[in-house]
Amino acid sequence: MDEFEQIREKILTCTNCDLCKARHNPVFGEGNRNAPVMVIGEGPGYYEDMEGKPFVGRSGQLLDKIFAACGFSRDKQIFIGNIVKCRPPENRTPTSQEMAICIPYLYRQIELIDPKIIILLGSTALKGLIDSNAKITQMRGQWIEWRGRCVMPTYHPSALLRNPGLKRDAWEDFKKVIDKYREIVDPQHYSKYH
Ligand code: URA
Repeated sequence: MDEFEQIREKILTCTNCDLCKARHNPVFGEGNRNAPVMVIGEGPGYYEDMEGKPFVGRSGQLLDKIFAACGFSRDKQIFIGNIVKCRPPENRTPTSQEMAICIPYLYRQIELIDPKIIILLGSTALKGLIDSNAKITQMRGQWIEWRGRCVMPTYHPSALLRNPGLKRDAWEDFKKVIDKYREIVDPQHYSKYH
């Protein structure tokens, strides 16, 4: 078993924090393990916990539409992960302690997948990876350099579902990702809408 699979096993049996008590399934992440683009959300919700897969509920359906508009798909350009691997009860935001306990898994996943571009979905992903005081409304749409990678924070799809007026800004952010992808990964990349 290589290290990528070892981490999967560790996550699937993890009891490092109390989130393990109420979970049905930890969510390791999904996609191409050599993906040039990694997408990071907050943590599993109800459906993700039931299925053990990231972004399979309503937010996931919207995310897949956005990926399709970008010419991306989960099994080719993308790997999707989360800040915490187990569902917080009632979908509450994970605590800073839960995030701190879980983040080493994500750091190692990032090193092994080695994406050139990281998309952070929402406030928890931004705070968890970059800076606990960062504000998504201030930082979205701007590239951050982090450990030699290009990081784009944008709104979480659940925010777009709650407030469709934010979709326009989110699409501007994803257009920047498409541009960067053409610049540093594949100049021929085709997307229908940009
Ligand atoms: N929301 C997230 O942040 N992550 C998921 O995997 C699903 C919903």
